[in-house]
Order: sequence, then C-alpha cells, then structure tokens
Amino acid sequence: MSRIDELLSQMTLAEKVGQLNLVTAGQAVTGPARSGDMIENIRAGNVGGVFNLWGKDNVARLQQCAIEESRLGAPLFFGLDVLHGHRTIFPAPLAEAGAFDPALWEETARIAAREAAADGIDLTFAPMLDISRDPRWGRIVEGPGEDPLVGALFARAKVRGFQGADLSASSAIGATAKHFCAGGAALAGRDYAAVDLSEREVRETYLPPFAAAVAAGCVAIMPAFNSLAGIPMTAHVALLRDYLRNELGFEGVIVSDYTAIMELIEHGVAADAVEAAALALRAGVDMDMVSGAYLRLPEAVSRGLAREADIDAAVRRVLRLKEKLGLFDDPHRRLKAVADAPDALRERARDAARRSAVLLTNDGVLPLPTHIRRLAAVGPLADARFDMLGPWCAAGESDNCVSILDGLRAALPHCEITHHQGVAIAGDDTSSIAAARALCAQSEAVLLCVGESAGMSGEAASRARPGLPGRQRDLAEAVLSAGVPVAMVLSSGRPLMVSDLVARAQATLASWWLGDMAGHAIADILTGRFNPTARLALTWPRAVGQIPIHYAARSSGRPPDPDNPFTSKYLDLPVEPLFHFGHGLSYAHVALSRLRPSADAIVFGAHVVVEVDATNEGAHPTEETIFLFLRDIVASVARPQMELKRFAKVCLAPGETKTVRFTLDDACFRYLDAALMPRLEDGAFEILAALSADRRTALTTIVTARHAAISDNA
Ligand code: BGC
Repeated sequence: MSRIDELLSQMTLAEKVGQLNLVTAGQAVTGPARSGDMIENIRAGNVGGVFNLWGKDNVARLQQCAIEESRLGAPLFFGLDVLHGHRTIFPAPLAEAGAFDPALWEETARIAAREAAADGIDLTFAPMLDISRDPRWGRIVEGPGEDPLVGALFARAKVRGFQGADLSASSAIGATAKHFCAGGAALAGRDYAAVDLSEREVRETYLPPFAAAVAAGCVAIMPAFNSLAGIPMTAHVALLRDYLRNELGFEGVIVSDYTAIMELIEHGVAADAVEAAALALRAGVDMDMVSGAYLRLPEAVSRGLAREADIDAAVRRVLRLKEKLGLFDDPHRRLKAVADAPDALRERARDAARRSAVLLTNDGVLPLPTHIRRLAAVGPLADARFDMLGPWCAAGESDNCVSILDGLRAALPHCEITHHQGVAIAGDDTSSIAAARALCAQSEAVLLCVGESAGMSGEAASRARPGLPGRQRDLAEAVLSAGVPVAMVLSSGRPLMVSDLVARAQATLASWWLGDMAGHAIADILTGRFNPTARLALTWPRAVGQIPIHYAARSSGRPPDPDNPFTSKYLDLPVEPLFHFGHGLSYAHVALSRLRPSADAIVFGAHVVVEVDATNEGAHPTEETIFLFLRDIVASVARPQMELKRFAKVCLAPGETKTVRFTLDDACFRYLDAALMPRLEDGAFEILAALSADRRTALTTIVTARHAAISDNA
C-alpha cells in the first residue's frame, strides 16, 4: 500500500475533510478571515494547509504542531500569493508581460520561488492567467494582458520558474494557475461580476493559458470567483471535471478561491453551506480556501448530497501534492533553503524593471540631455515608494523600494532636481498646483509623475473612470501649460484614459508598477542609459467607450469606412485605439523589409519558415520585438483579423540588418470549426510581420495552404 493510501485508510471522515481545509493566518488578508483558533484546529486535524503566513519561525511552529501534535502527523503546506516576487519585488505581471521575454518571465519566478521557499512557502497562488481586454477591471494588472499566445507562453515560463525541474527541491514551490476561467471578462469590468461568453471565446481566448500551465506540470488550479454563462466556476462540472480533469488530464489540486465555496449561496445555486460544499466537491474542487464549508461535508454525505469516494479522491490529491512537494520526507525542507544575496537580486530586479516600462511617445525630449542642469520632478508619484511595488507584493517592503526621485538623483548627480508633489494621488486639494507649476517654469524640463496608487489596481479595484484620480488632471494641465518640455511618467496597473494629456506631453512612459528598483529603472530609460525595449501586452484604448478592446477582433460585414456612415464605427471617436497591442518605442528606429515565406504554397505537415529583415535605421544600438500574425482569409467560421502566432527579439547595432526567422507549424493554422472541433482547412492565409498590431504598418504576404494529396507522397 502506498504511503498515501495507508494514511488515508487511517483517517476518520473528519480528518479527511480537515485535509481539504485551507485556512488563512492573516498576515495578508483579502477577505473576511474565518479560520478560528489555528493551533487548536491543526492539532485536531482540521487543517490541510495554511496561507498568508511566512517567516521561518512562524512556519516551523505550525508545521511542528501538525506533525507532532495531530493524531496522524500529516504535514501542512504553506501557501501565499507570490505573484511578482517575494522579498525582492519585480514588475507587476502586466508590465513584465510587455518584456515579451519568456526567459525573463521564468527567471523572475525562479528567484521569487527561492526567496519564498526560504521563508517557508510551499505553494504560490500564481501565475494569474486571466486574459483581459477591459482596463476597468483592476485585476488586469495581475495577468499577462489580452493575448492567448502571450498568456500561454507566460504560463509555461512562470510554472517552470516557480516549480523548477524538481518540485521537491528546497528552492522550488508549487504553482497555482488562476483564476480558471474568464474572470477578465467580468461584466462591465466589475470585479467578481458574472461573465457571459460563447464557448468559442472561452476555448479560443481564455483556456489556452491554463492548458499551457497544465502541460508545464502546474500542480494546482484555482477556479475564478465569477459565474460563466450562469454557472459559478467553483461548481463548474463541464470546465473543472470534463475539461480540466478529463480533456487535459490535470491530476493536481483544484483549490477554491477565498470563501468562494460559501459564495455559491450568494450566487443563488446552493441553499446552505452543506449544499455549497457538495456542489463544489462534485465539480472537482479539492480544497476549500477559508469558507469552512468543506468541514460540513460529512453532513453532505449523510444527506446523500456527496459521496465519500469523492472526498477520498480529493484527499488523495491533496496528499499527493504534499508528497510531490517533498513534505512527507522532510516537512521543514524549504526552511533550509538559502536565499540569494540581495544585491545580485536587486540588479536582476532593475533589469527586469527597465525591460517592462513602455515608452509610448517621444518627440525627441528623451533621452534627457547629459548636460541638463535643472529638472523638476512633479506629481504625487515622483516620490512614492510603496506604490511602485504595486498590488500583491508579498513580503516586499517600501523601504527597499527606489522612488523615481531617488533614481533620478542617483542617475543625474550634477543636475539640480527639484520636487513638488502638486496634488495627492486622490483627494480634492488643488492649493499647491500653482507652486508646482512655478517650479516647472524655472526648469529645463519637467518629469510629470502621475497615475494611480498601488491599491487602485489589483483585486477589488475596478474603476468605471480609469483616468487620473483626484485632481491630478488639473496638475497635469497646469504643468503642460508652463512652456517647458514635459516627459510624463504614468504609473498605474492599467492603461489610463489620458489621450489628450499624452498628445500634449513631449514624451510619455508607461511605467506600470516596476517593483523595488522602479526608480533606477525609470531613470535608466529617461537618461538613455537603457534603450527601452518593452511593448504593450494589451491594446490601450482612447476612452472607456472603446472597452472591451483588443487587436484580434473579427471583421464586420461592414468594416469601418470613413466615407460610409453605415459601417462599424463611432460617431464621436475613432475606432483605432490610442496605442496598439505591441506598441512601444525605443531610441532607435527599426524598419522591416522583405517578408518572405519559404513557399507561397504550403502543404500541412511541413514546417513553414517565414523570414523578415529588420534594419536599425537609428543611431543607438537597439533591441526590437518583431511580431508575426496570421489571418485565415476565408474559413468556415469568421476568423480574427490578426492572430499572434510568434514573436522574436533581435538586437541591432546602428545601421545593422538582421534576418529574423519564424517557424510555423500546423497548430498555427488550425482553428475551431463551427462544431468547435480543431480543424485544418485548405485555403489562403495572410501573414503579417509588424512591430505592433497596427495593421497599417505591417508587411503582408499571402500563402495558400492545403493538405497533402496522395500524389505528394508518391
Ligand atoms: C484572490 C486570489 C488569491 C486569494 C488568496 C483572493 O481574494 O482572488 O487571487 O489567491 O485571495 O489570497
């Protein structure tokens, strides 16, 4: 008998459901804490895992209690939301997605895992893989942006990074892919709200990152809070059991979100906690985070609502997770991990940060001239340390964080840098705007640092008007009329609707939340010490009215035509976004030429090589991201106008040309047909190579693709 079966055979029903109970210790809390007396519950065998607790002593104490004082001595696991760093904080996921760099994505997760493990953490509730096309939704900052391919690559990199090659290693932690699925499409961008999407959209857009996480060996999945087409994800049999377990073969643990099982009552699908527990169990949810409903499972069994066999299967999965994490062999193993030297990590954090900030516009005011002598840093985000960390900053500390002002002062020691906050991030006080403007008028250039506080994005941070909060717009207008060149730094967890300010500023940098080294990274970019490389991982709308927005929309029967009113557009706004997916400037200028597929007529089964030349026409060495999109021109169902299939980075010296090669396989041409079955269909495909999803700038060519005829093999 295996160790797990033996343990299970000794458990009472109460001890079994205890293993399914995940409780919060309250060091970081995102909802009502309901976990009661922790030590007593652990001793009684009522707890399977603990989260929101870290630090060697804290963790060791509880683990000791589980092993030595509970009847069967099963180890606990310790979980935490380690999203973008544990002690060393890296850029928020949406920012880091814009680095378009899977190796970086993996490396920062690896570092975070090592740090978290050394603090006693076994499992992170990350990566967050919600595709979203709605910047009203605050959680857009936690995920990889709008594109399913980017989401899938991000998922794979993060799972590999957290889990490493051997999950039982003292430096590896388990990954939890969340929130499964489609929470990013919440109605009107309101967190936790219902979602109603076609199955096609779910399969084409929202599931691929999760499929990639499962393929990469992710050990846990968290269902989303929302309902999807009327079925709360926590009770979604078709997606949790049929899709995840049966179709993808996922054998890991499904862990509910915070109190989500009990929330089945509020969703209106369960009458009480017992019914809620039974519904979640039946759908395949193994662990109950915080709600306590699973402690009522014995009652569900006696009421005939749940089967003990399903409880056993869930317990087995939880115990198997603990075994994979190496906790049966040495429950304190992670506490023995040695964390890396913080200085080396800070350099990695600085590099990750500067690779994640997107230069949106620049009329030449950046990089700042080396001889600049008087610079004004104005705005409430100029000297904001804590906010640079962004939401979900685990054990990060604002004392370790470099503000924009700190970074500038270090980068420009001979320049007099004056600072005025002007206004607070939120609030109505405008009394200092005049003084801030006066400071600007005496300077050679102004850095206008505006945006959100960290708490204005992330969970429970939807914004119906995602512009500049408080009176920052008044400040911006005053500064922009001071007659001095202005570089605007937008710090936020979402694209902000500030198109008029962007049009007036001489340059705009989207810094998102860059983590501990934000200030140095921003200064590196502003001074030209680092030539910006990040690109937008999502489309940046002009106004809320364009939301939801993304580049991969399907055509209309009446595509927008400026000369025809009866076409798909707005009376009061262009249909084009402010910035396209993939947009981002550097201090160089790269041009693409000679897009050439290996053949104009392709036979499925063979790889197709597509080449394009990239030339650096600027005076600075640069690193460019080249995107390759595909359009299936005529298919049995309407296909998106562009779908990202590949991207690549190329480093170019001034004047240098390099050929970038992409290889396309059948999967790139396959799509879901009218019956949602994967299908390869003969026909013409448009290939587009571009520096963003702005179709007008793309190089395009058409290839025909077909299945091999018998004579092809002859
Ligand atoms: C969030 C999850 C998170 C959990 C635990 C919830 O409120 O939705 O993403 O993992 O809290 O902190």
